[in-house]
Amino acid sequence: MPANSENYFPGLEGVNVDTTRLSFVDGQKGNLFYCGYSIEDLAEHCNFAEVAYLLLHGELPNQQQIDSFQEELLAERYLDPHLKSIITLTPKDGHPMAVLQALVAQLAMHDKEIADRSLEAKRRKAIRIIAKLPLVVTYFENVRTGMRTVEPRMDLGHAANYLWMLTGEEPTPEAVKVFDTALTLHMDHGCNNSTFTCRVVSSTEADIYSAVVAAIGSLSGPLHGGANERVIHMLESIEELDEVEPFIDAKVASKEKIMGFGHRVYKVMDPRAKILRDLAGKFVVADPEMDKCLKKANLFYKITEERFQAKGKMDIWPNVDFFSGVLYKALGLPRDFFTPVFAISRVVGWVAHHFEQMEDNRIYRPRFIYEGAELGRKFKKMDKRT
Ligand SMILES: CC(C)(COP(=O)(O)OP(=O)(O)OC[C@H]1O[C@@H](n2cnc3c(N)ncnc32)[C@H](O)[C@@H]1OP(=O)(O)O)[C@@H](O)C(=O)NCCC(=O)NCCS
Repeated sequence: MPANSENYFPGLEGVNVDTTRLSFVDGQKGNLFYCGYSIEDLAEHCNFAEVAYLLLHGELPNQQQIDSFQEELLAERYLDPHLKSIITLTPKDGHPMAVLQALVAQLAMHDKEIADRSLEAKRRKAIRIIAKLPLVVTYFENVRTGMRTVEPRMDLGHAANYLWMLTGEEPTPEAVKVFDTALTLHMDHGCNNSTFTCRVVSSTEADIYSAVVAAIGSLSGPLHGGANERVIHMLESIEELDEVEPFIDAKVASKEKIMGFGHRVYKVMDPRAKILRDLAGKFVVADPEMDKCLKKANLFYKITEERFQAKGKMDIWPNVDFFSGVLYKALGLPRDFFTPVFAISRVVGWVAHHFEQMEDNRIYRPRFIYEGAELGRKFKKMDKRT
């Protein structure tokens, strides 16, 4: 073991890297709070804009404050024609997360305030990013499926407009509530990988767009936000309910990770998973295919838990990604849109953390324990190398 290994925390497990006022994850009790409010209260009573306001301002808005915040978001609810043409030229089989990364970088290049480092300009950029991210992916979906492009509507909230632009159909109030709730649940989550990535990049004083591009890349990974897409892929690969148990046993026997389970911080069930499971139960019941999918998901969850408990792994439970996929499938979202939905919500947390990081910034610069070749090796010129 290297000499200074007592300072070695693989995956930074248990390390506090900074302070935050934004969210708190109680992994032992299974609770999540945004600015002190329980996620259950926010999910039940608030919409996307109210919770976004809370994370950006630290307080829930009154009517006048939410009206003017919504106006700010609406004023940015459009895509520059040049950006639209870039999306049109994007490969149709590109993953929407890659499209998001590329287009956020493009947004930066189109932002006339890019060089303005004032707090007011940064705030306007943050609103711009939050408002335009959903448009980028829905426009991409319109283009790649060859449907007519759906223009944003100014009379709809953030969640409703997303569903409208994706399908060109007015969503039902139930669908909007379910989607709003899912967005609320994903908005912030302590020092998760993409938020940490955002703060690391922000700490170099790179612009807010660069921090968001990096965070999108982090979120796309299957161990982070990319898990939700893989959960539904897994459930769809199981045709019948009686195939669930052998499927899980094969995974456990081969020590393969089961997507949508496990968490670095939660030692009990993720509170977001509980809310999403209940929502999925209520929302999908009318559709026979979705009913079967939900039955598979519930059986999968029950048997997987039994197997983990039997193996003494008492702290592996479903996380937010296990039931979100079922819900997004019920909402009619394409499978590769599940992680982008995560992104259009988590972006609020990212930009809020960008501001927090910049309040009292110190560049992140940890160290590696060196385990390479002996130091001071004898250098050989090219003609002497074998
Ligand atoms: C989320 C996750 C990355 C947390 O990772 P972590 O804190 O580093 O935990 P580890 O990967 O070290 O796992 C610890 C132990 O639990 C097991 N474990 C954790 N998650 C597991 C899962 N989903 N399926 C099977 N075993 C799992 C590991 O195999 C390991 O067992 P071991 O000690 O016998 O080797 C991990 O649980 C995971 O990969 N889950 C699946 C992907 C997923 O759903 N991600 C979304 C997270 S919100």
